[in-house]
Amino acid sequence: MTTVNVRGISLNYAEAGEGAPVALLHGFPFNHSMWREQVEMLSRTHRVITPDLRGHGGTAATGGAATMEEMAQDVAALLDQLSIERAVFGALSMGGYVALAFYQLFPRRVRALILADTRPHADTGEARANREAMARRALEEGMETVAEAMLPKLLAPATLSDRPEIAARVREMILSTQPEGAAAALRGMAIRKDQTSLLSEIIAPTLILVGGEDILTPPADAELMHREIRGSQLVVIEGAGHVSNIERPSEFNNAITDFLKSIEL
Ligand code: MLT
Repeated sequence: MTTVNVRGISLNYAEAGEGAPVALLHGFPFNHSMWREQVEMLSRTHRVITPDLRGHGGTAATGGAATMEEMAQDVAALLDQLSIERAVFGALSMGGYVALAFYQLFPRRVRALILADTRPHADTGEARANREAMARRALEEGMETVAEAMLPKLLAPATLSDRPEIAARVREMILSTQPEGAAAALRGMAIRKDQTSLLSEIIAPTLILVGGEDILTPPADAELMHREIRGSQLVVIEGAGHVSNIERPSEFNNAITDFLKSIEL
């Protein structure tokens, strides 16, 4: 891992491989390590950058709300430091919210988009209230309570019952997140913009991935993005829940490989 100072915070990231740049943006409340299997594969042919987003992994937490735009600007500043003008953005869940914010801010810097287990909508009033409650619980009780609440929703039932090593890995990532970082991200997600109208403006080649059993950002959300983003491809990963890249890495990686080949990258 390397640490750089960007926009007043110290930001951690990992880098591997050489070639056309690919930046992978993790979900909440995870960190760059969720992309292990994708980095292994992609770094044979690409330069892969995996940041820890603001308040996650080794990147400093800030108080208040960490907005999707702030996280996107952090990533842009990191790419500036690495002299990377354009990249493919692969992003899961909250990473997808950040990728859409990035696209809105810096469309020319996006060579292609891979949007996994994410959605374009803003939160409902009820979702916002739940996020605030969770932010307070994270701060008062620690991340154990967040892990307990989230794990059953993150993984497909068969992953939870039959693959304890995956549940343990995801749990470990959640527990390693700082409560202050998680609370700031929850508050940032709660006030994120509705990006539905951005979708029809996206001209970057786009691959949409979703676990067939994702109950947090279900296939219906992926289908909506597929309808709205011109020329996009949609791949449903059967047997996976919300963390489809960890639950079904081969299927996830094959979809990415085919996509990158189809856009000659
Ligand atoms: C994530 O996996 O990043 C989160 O579940 C997204 C969210 O809570 O909306």
